[in-house]
Amino acid sequence: MTNLYKKIKVSASGSYEIIIGDGQLARLGEHVRPLLGDCRIAVLTDSNVDALYGDRILSILSASGYDVCKYVIPAGEASKSAENLLAFLDFLARNRFTRSDAIVAFGGGVVGDLGGLSASLYLRGVPYVQVPTTLLAAVDSSVGGKTAIDIPAGKNLVGAFYQPRLVCCDTQLMDTLPADIYRDGCAEVIKYGVILDAGLYASLQTPPFDRIETVARCVEIKRDVVQEDEFDNGKRGLLNFGHTFGHAIEKLSNFAVSHGAAVAKGMVIAAKVAPLCGLADVEKPLADLLSRYGFDLGCPYTAEQLYDVILSDKKRRGGRLTLVLPRSLGECELVAMPVEDVLSHLKAILP
Ligand SMILES: NC(=O)c1ccc[n+]([C@@H]2O[C@H](COP(=O)([O-])OP(=O)(O)OC[C@H]3O[C@@H](n4cnc5c(N)ncnc54)[C@H](O)[C@@H]3O)[C@@H](O)[C@H]2O)c1
Repeated sequence: MTNLYKKIKVSASGSYEIIIGDGQLARLGEHVRPLLGDCRIAVLTDSNVDALYGDRILSILSASGYDVCKYVIPAGEASKSAENLLAFLDFLARNRFTRSDAIVAFGGGVVGDLGGLSASLYLRGVPYVQVPTTLLAAVDSSVGGKTAIDIPAGKNLVGAFYQPRLVCCDTQLMDTLPADIYRDGCAEVIKYGVILDAGLYASLQTPPFDRIETVARCVEIKRDVVQEDEFDNGKRGLLNFGHTFGHAIEKLSNFAVSHGAAVAKGMVIAAKVAPLCGLADVEKPLADLLSRYGFDLGCPYTAEQLYDVILSDKKRRGGRLTLVLPRSLGECELVAMPVEDVLSHLKAILP
């Protein structure tokens, strides 16, 4: 299976390739050699991924002639912290990493975000490679160059746009993902279908989907959006479909509702709001599809509770908020409205 892979080119402020296929981890050394040349590599990973694949990635890179070291953070969102950022930067400095050495972020979105931000900051920027190991990281966080950590005031509030030199996604590594974490990624996959690709949406009707084909299609969609709007001033907003409401639900639940589960609920709320704004009503087929993937779509919060959190959304511009609403299952629109309208729509649809 190692020969079956897809290569997708991204041309943003830096150009790089995204390689997607079963067994690609074994070829990581070969993939990075022409990009990094001779250098030292620090592999950043988390405790779960380390237990499963830590020895493997080190021996693959060592066998390709790299001098490799490893830094392991505890698994979980709490690790995307300023403390871990500084500790990892300090680790690089104590190991005398220079500007020509590189970071490999090996894990899910937490590792990818922390690794990318560290790479952007260490010595004002060193090369880094993303090796995503979750479905969400493969289709979303490893693509597009957004990096961040969380601070006590909120998630992802400190970050940078910083593009990797390569993304190498071994789709086989997802075999060990717990079902709920894999399902979180499925919410993002379905999101891509709804916002921009009716063909992808149609292909998701009977789970499970073909992993390599589907990840590649999602990456192409995100690539196209990022190339048009790298710094998130317009079209990139489409990727937030379901996220404004989803983030509010995640926060209100104190993160007991996972990101993907919250986005699934958020997409259904957005689909309910759409007809109130003169757009199509796609709620039923979308909710049916999400249920087939095992998502619970109930919203345990009131309109006022959601609205209170949405008011602190970092996407808010003054008194207006832009919602992503479906026109059809395969096309979404950015609809800016006064924040008070968001409240009245929420009151109209939530019990
Ligand atoms: N930068 C961006 O554009 C962007 C986009 C979306 C999300 N994000 C960020 O991504 C993060 C969420 O990413 P995530 O869902 O990948 O979470 P995560 O990195 O916490 O990974 C989820 C869990 O899966 C485990 N895991 C990872 N790979 C595994 C594997 N192959 N087998 C078994 N277990 C494995 C991890 O140890 C962790 O426990 C959030 O912090 C979010 O803010 C960033």
